[in-house]
Amino acid sequence: MGFYFPHFLLIFLFLAPPVLSQVKDFISIDCGGTGGNYTDRRTGLTWISDTGTISHGTSVEVEDPKANSPQYLKRREFPIDDRKYCYTLSTQERRRYLVRATFQYGSLKDEDTYPKFKLYLDATEWSTVTIFDASRIYVNEMIIRASSTSIDVCICCATTGSPFISTLELRPLNLSMYATDFEDSFFLRVAARVNFGAKTKDIIRYPDDPYDRIWDSDLEKRQNYLVGVATGTKRIETSRNIAVNTREYPPVKVMQTAVVGTEGKLSYRLNLEGFPGNARAYAYLAEIEDLGPKETRKFKLDEPNFADSSNAVVNIAENANGSYTLYEPSYMNVSLQFVLSFSFGKTRDSTRGPLLNAMEISKYVQIGTKTDKQDLVVLNALRLMSAEITSADEGDPCVPTQWEWVNCSSNAPPRITKINISGKNVKGEIPSELNNMEELSELWLDGNSLTGTLPDMTNLINLKILHLENNQLTGPLPSYLGSLPSLQELYIQNNSFAGDIPPGLLARKLVFKYEDNPGLHKVAQKKKHLNLVVGTAVGVFVLLIVIFLGGLLFVRNLRRKEAQSKTSDGKGYSMRISTKASTPYSISRGSHLMDDGIACYIAFSELEEATNNFSKKIGKGSFGSVYYGRMRDGKEVAVKIMADSSSHGDQQFVTEVALLSRIHHRNLVPLIGYCEEEHQCVLVYEYMHNGTLRDHIHGYADQERLDWLTRLRIGEDAAKGLEYLHTGCNPSIIHRDVKTSNILLDINMRAKVSDFGLSRQAEEDLTHISSVARGTVGYLDPEYYACQQLTEKSDVYSFGVVLLELISGRKPVSQEDYGAELNIVHWARSLIRKGDVVSIMDPFLIGNLKIESVWRIAEVAIQCVQQHGVSRPRMQEIILAIQDAMKIEKDTEGNPKISPSSSKAQSSRKTLLTSFLEIEPPDLSNGSLVPSAR
Ligand SMILES: *[C@@H]1O[C@H](CO)[C@@H](O)[C@H](O)[C@H]1NC(C)=O
Ligand SMILES: *[C@@H]1O[C@H](CO)[C@@H](O)[C@H](O)[C@H]1NC(C)=O
Ligand SMILES: *[C@@H]1O[C@H](CO)[C@@H](O)[C@H](O)[C@H]1NC(C)=O
Ligand SMILES: *[C@@H]1O[C@H](CO)[C@@H](O)[C@H](O)[C@H]1NC(C)=O
Ligand SMILES: *[C@@H]1O[C@H](CO)[C@@H](O)[C@H](O)[C@H]1NC(C)=O
Ligand SMILES: *[C@@H]1O[C@H](CO)[C@@H](O)[C@H](O)[C@H]1NC(C)=O
Repeated sequence: MGFYFPHFLLIFLFLAPPVLSQVKDFISIDCGGTGGNYTDRRTGLTWISDTGTISHGTSVEVEDPKANSPQYLKRREFPIDDRKYCYTLSTQERRRYLVRATFQYGSLKDEDTYPKFKLYLDATEWSTVTIFDASRIYVNEMIIRASSTSIDVCICCATTGSPFISTLELRPLNLSMYATDFEDSFFLRVAARVNFGAKTKDIIRYPDDPYDRIWDSDLEKRQNYLVGVATGTKRIETSRNIAVNTREYPPVKVMQTAVVGTEGKLSYRLNLEGFPGNARAYAYLAEIEDLGPKETRKFKLDEPNFADSSNAVVNIAENANGSYTLYEPSYMNVSLQFVLSFSFGKTRDSTRGPLLNAMEISKYVQIGTKTDKQDLVVLNALRLMSAEITSADEGDPCVPTQWEWVNCSSNAPPRITKINISGKNVKGEIPSELNNMEELSELWLDGNSLTGTLPDMTNLINLKILHLENNQLTGPLPSYLGSLPSLQELYIQNNSFAGDIPPGLLARKLVFKYEDNPGLHKVAQKKKHLNLVVGTAVGVFVLLIVIFLGGLLFVRNLRRKEAQSKTSDGKGYSMRISTKASTPYSISRGSHLMDDGIACYIAFSELEEATNNFSKKIGKGSFGSVYYGRMRDGKEVAVKIMADSSSHGDQQFVTEVALLSRIHHRNLVPLIGYCEEEHQCVLVYEYMHNGTLRDHIHGYADQERLDWLTRLRIGEDAAKGLEYLHTGCNPSIIHRDVKTSNILLDINMRAKVSDFGLSRQAEEDLTHISSVARGTVGYLDPEYYACQQLTEKSDVYSFGVVLLELISGRKPVSQEDYGAELNIVHWARSLIRKGDVVSIMDPFLIGNLKIESVWRIAEVAIQCVQQHGVSRPRMQEIILAIQDAMKIEKDTEGNPKISPSSSKAQSSRKTLLTSFLEIEPPDLSNGSLVPSAR
């Protein structure tokens, strides 16, 4: 084996920049460490002591530590009690991380017993740590996608000994590394990560692995671990570089060694802690021997649990398209037993035996449910009001163990049933969010320094016991207290409440103590009189409303008549066109449709003039033809004549217009006027200079094809428009016909969604009898089509198709592209599942973008076109994904654009599943792709 100097240099250059950027985001905590911050010379990692970050537990010297790393000289030991002790690590929402906790106990002193306790990540049970070997470092790794801006790692529930921890590490992963189909509800607990053919017993980690995964050596034979190696197993190594740029980026150093079965067989047995269960499994293979021209290496996996595996033939060099290149077959979901036995056997026509460089197996762990968010708001507010309770507890209030001062229900998510902060020096006002804690049954706030008035508690229908005595609360006693249905005990002594005691409180059966409130009075009963007053008031109010509504209708009719009569005078009546577009938009969440703005009435004659007698047709939407026009003031407009005017009652058309004209968002095409004359219903929209997205993607526009960043920006714009329809309008609006020809581009190439909100009501009335689902072939949500149940998720499905069009530049349905019955969804899904995103990319884009950016969009697009609406993301999540992709694409630092040649290597990311099910990899040569399985 020669020493290749140039290669070495290459590797070095290649690794250098990511190493630096990566290590900045690493968090490495030396738990119990007292030596301040230091850099471990062997790894170059910087460790920080946890002294400032955790207030519980004590630093304990490890007796006779076997590992000579400084972070294992001390451990942090926690009290033996029924509380939990947590570290909080800050994360970036939706980013994937490797979280690692390690434990080395050291020799036992005197009468000690080895500890056994539990490890939690947020509300998810991670592992039971059982120490039985003083010198072993127990490593627990979890791969997560962060759901918020921090995670808690908690230790609790010791059954023997004192719970402790040695190190805690957080390693950000890159983009879609370790993405799974199940990450919304499952974390991945690493069960095995083995480097085969390792040169020593040492682990491999940072800096060899830029993501600092720990790769165990296959020479380190633990009890019942990696036994049963077949005869003829030989270890091989190379010093040549290996191209590892597929999805999981295993370190080159791990890929440079392997085992081969020189007698045709490789076999192993592994203990998988925590199994049986469902697992994500990866094999990392690279041909690192130089095979002669006539030589082949072909083999099959023999493992009864891996479905349909016996027929699949692995040929590494062919699968990876070259030697010294990673081939990464994987199983998304395979059910495994505690002991995994597997073997590879060569096929009869192969000249060489099987080869294995590395493997990784992780168990799916169901993500635990955290305490209800609304309840958390109140608890966090209370924590800020008293140092005494802030320092008491960490992590989730209910899972895995309760905070000292709360009790929880056992629902999922858990709700708070009792708060006890009697005499805890709490200062300030009672948080108004308290009213959202519907499950609360006991509230003890007595003996503090609470001030202000009582907040609304009308929703606390389960509240039985309320202690407010010995505070400085002021204001009146609200009358709702008298009608809280479950209230049994109310204590308010020694406060400064004032005014009348609500009669309801005195009348019902209740323990009620209210002494020492100087301003508080009992009142004489005036019940009947009160009722009369209320009754009269209500009556008058109703009358007023009736008069007001009548007046409104009258004025509105008058106005319409007026408009019509003026136009028939031939005077060309014209109201000023409201040009909402020129005023700054604000995205007002939850605003009511009736808030502002009315599209103006435009006379038909004026439209005839503006459109030169409807001479220039610019399109045909789902509701009719669209004509170009220019109003007298020079404003360019698109005039849509509703095709089926007869089916629109006058009144209904007007209602729709009223609704539509109140929807304003920068990513929705604004309606500026309407006309309803001579049985014609006409809508006048702002003119969009750059036409439809469809024309641009499919090359009908005369302009240059859109580059990737422009496509992403258009996607983001359109997604924001839809999100506004779904969540910013009240009632929310489902577009029902999302497609590229309904996404229009203005003069600055910003996208606006058009054609929304039409005939909303008409079709709502028909939902159960209508047999024709509105929508366009190729974009239509199959679930809606099947059940006629319309939700926002139908738009999400259609939008997923739009995203696939943006990636591929292909049409949603096309016989020549996808064969007889298949559409873009089937085609793209099967390729993306194989890990091949390059084959679906618009050839025009290849070479001018970052593949990770496309992956991000491909990932979310496939989620959008899931069969069932519930598994599809919300528009908000799609926007985040697109923004992610834009960030990746824009971030040019040391991140080379892929070129067509290297992209081929990426595209060959076939899964073992594909090869095992004998799905032919798509033939790229003739440009037509016909998937052979779903
Ligand atoms: C150690 O590093 C942490 C985080 O970088 C910092 O907050 C802390 O002040 C440092 N401690 C010492 C003693 O330098
Ligand atoms: C894996 O497959 C099993 C059986 O087909 C299924 O029940 C399970 O939901 C899948 N996913 C996970 C994460 O376990
Ligand atoms: C409420 O919580 C306290 C402290 O955690 C516990 O001792 C008590 O048993 C709990 N009560 C109920 C009813 O769960
Ligand atoms: C409230 O908590 C205190 C300890 O902080 C305890 O002494 C008291 O008994 C608790 N009261 C109730 C009603 O649980
Ligand atoms: C992500 O992977 C790319 C290679 O595709 C690399 O250039 C980049 O530095 C990585 N980013 C991080 C944060 O590791
Ligand atoms: C394999 O790589 C060669 C160049 O090394 C290239 O010409 C060929 O097209 C690639 N084949 C596939 C299927 O990617």
